[in-house]
Amino acid sequence: MGKYLRIICTLCLLLTLSAVTSAEDLDEFDAEEATVEVENEPSTVDVPYESPVPIDQSKVYLADHFDDIAQFSKRWIKSTAKKEDISEDIAKYDGVWELEAPLKDALVGDLGLVLKSKAKHAAIASSLIKPFVFNTKPLIVQYEVILQDGQECGGAYLKLLSDGPDTRNLGQFHDKSPYSIMFGPDKCGNDHKLHFIFRHKNPRNGSIEEKHCKKPSERLEDYFSDKLPHLYTLVLNPDNSFEVKVDKTVINSGNLLEDFTPSVNPPREIDDPDDRKPDDWDEREKIPDADAVKPDDWDEDAPAQVIDEFAIIPSGWLEDEPTHISDPDAKKPADWDTEMDGSWEPPLVDNPICTDAPGCGKWEPPLINNPNYKGKWRAPLIDNPNYKGKWRPRRIPNPEFFEDKEPFKMHTVSAVGFELWSMSKDIYFDNIIITDDPYIAEQWAASTFEKKRQKIARDSESVVQRLANLTNDYPILWVVYIIVLGIPVVFVLYLCCKPKSASRMENEELKRAAETKKTDALSPDDAVASGKSQDDKIEENVEDEEDKEKYSDKDEDEDDDVEENEKDSEVISDQNGEGDVPRKRKPRKD
Ligand SMILES: *[C@@H]1O[C@H](CO)[C@@H](O)[C@H](O)[C@H]1NC(C)=O
Repeated sequence: MGKYLRIICTLCLLLTLSAVTSAEDLDEFDAEEATVEVENEPSTVDVPYESPVPIDQSKVYLADHFDDIAQFSKRWIKSTAKKEDISEDIAKYDGVWELEAPLKDALVGDLGLVLKSKAKHAAIASSLIKPFVFNTKPLIVQYEVILQDGQECGGAYLKLLSDGPDTRNLGQFHDKSPYSIMFGPDKCGNDHKLHFIFRHKNPRNGSIEEKHCKKPSERLEDYFSDKLPHLYTLVLNPDNSFEVKVDKTVINSGNLLEDFTPSVNPPREIDDPDDRKPDDWDEREKIPDADAVKPDDWDEDAPAQVIDEFAIIPSGWLEDEPTHISDPDAKKPADWDTEMDGSWEPPLVDNPICTDAPGCGKWEPPLINNPNYKGKWRAPLIDNPNYKGKWRPRRIPNPEFFEDKEPFKMHTVSAVGFELWSMSKDIYFDNIIITDDPYIAEQWAASTFEKKRQKIARDSESVVQRLANLTNDYPILWVVYIIVLGIPVVFVLYLCCKPKSASRMENEELKRAAETKKTDALSPDDAVASGKSQDDKIEENVEDEEDKEKYSDKDEDEDDDVEENEKDSEVISDQNGEGDVPRKRKPRKD
């Protein structure tokens, strides 16, 4: 049936294409007379865009739409740092950043920050308008990403840099520059991530440890592959709760104290590392019964299986017939050189006389399970009177314990930056905002991200819309649609109502397919096949013949099955392939 579906689909496609083409012809033909209408229908529908302004500047720590090149170059600093401890030639931060419109569905006047280069370290950062101090207000970080070239391996995350001497010179921003929060998408191979990492300072000794958020509940794959704008939002509240959103949908949420590894606070108690299991501690719950004795009639040597004494040779068994005979139809190859190749022997095939008999050759009675088999005797298990339970070390107070109830109070953030390396080019960033009011971030998204998505929706709609308008103007197109939709329906009905003839047609098809394979002309498998000896090819053809026969008994097979079967037979012939020695085909059981 698969073959027919494919044919139907191809037909539909061809007809649709011709319909659209002819419709376009009509369009062109009448263009001069219908200019007024054409003017009413611009080819792409534009969503008006203006560079956004945050509704309350006092609650904003940084907001950049990247539309203003002069402003951008004042604010953002490209890093010229060098990465430590790797070789000189790849250590430099020399990735290329540009302000550009998105490659697809761009709004007029909308630019973004694009990481142009791939396989280079790239870093860029901007100071905040004012530092964000973690205190009583929430932190909202939001930005857009378009992975315009997909993402093979690399990140599109940002870092909120910790205020201090190490981050004062943003021109030296690099991978070790201290950050308070790292947030955003990252992918390598099949590992899709949406990072939310914060760096926590141990209040006992001042050491800093990265805390990684648990995995999001949703699948992330599409965000990396669909090449659409996605909006990433982190909301972090003074009560330590957080939410991670993509395109305004919450995909991860929880609490800084509970949902991060390693956990912020160490355990109160730990196993005493100095406690040792006493030597006489008996952990065995059951022991063998020392008083039990082996019964006298227990024969440890009785075999597990014995010959079935009552078995008789099945009637019709042909003891004098061999199971295999030399293939009577085999012919010595014309180029067989007895001196070189040794004497020729025809390959063995199943003895056809045995096909209808229960068996051929010497008959042996079968083995059956020995009813007297007991195996090795073991004493039964009884409860161990000395059992003390599983040993566990004593618990002691954790000497390194501390309790930080406010991990939200992180190190003050003074700048934001991207510090990236990617195997895919053209990563587009836009409309980054850091604020302490969720509403401001929402409004910002409404005048930026949402317009982008509207524009994309309208652009894809407009193709359908155009066809609809065209149909209004030229109702004759309905005839085309009816034909396009009607032909497959009629065809399917025809197939359903005449199953007999249909399956005959299918067999014809399969035979033709097998025929095509036999010509050894076109299939990609031939690259491999051509490396084989002539012998192999002859054999494959024989197998093809056989496959064909098999398939003519069935109705629902597809090309793929034929191919798979060919692979099977190739494996078999490979197993048997021993250079130029005459091959004996494995008997195949179906
Ligand atoms: C601080 O304490 C943590 C665990 O409590 C430990 O892993 C770390 O090594 C300590 N750092 C310093 C500098 O002592």
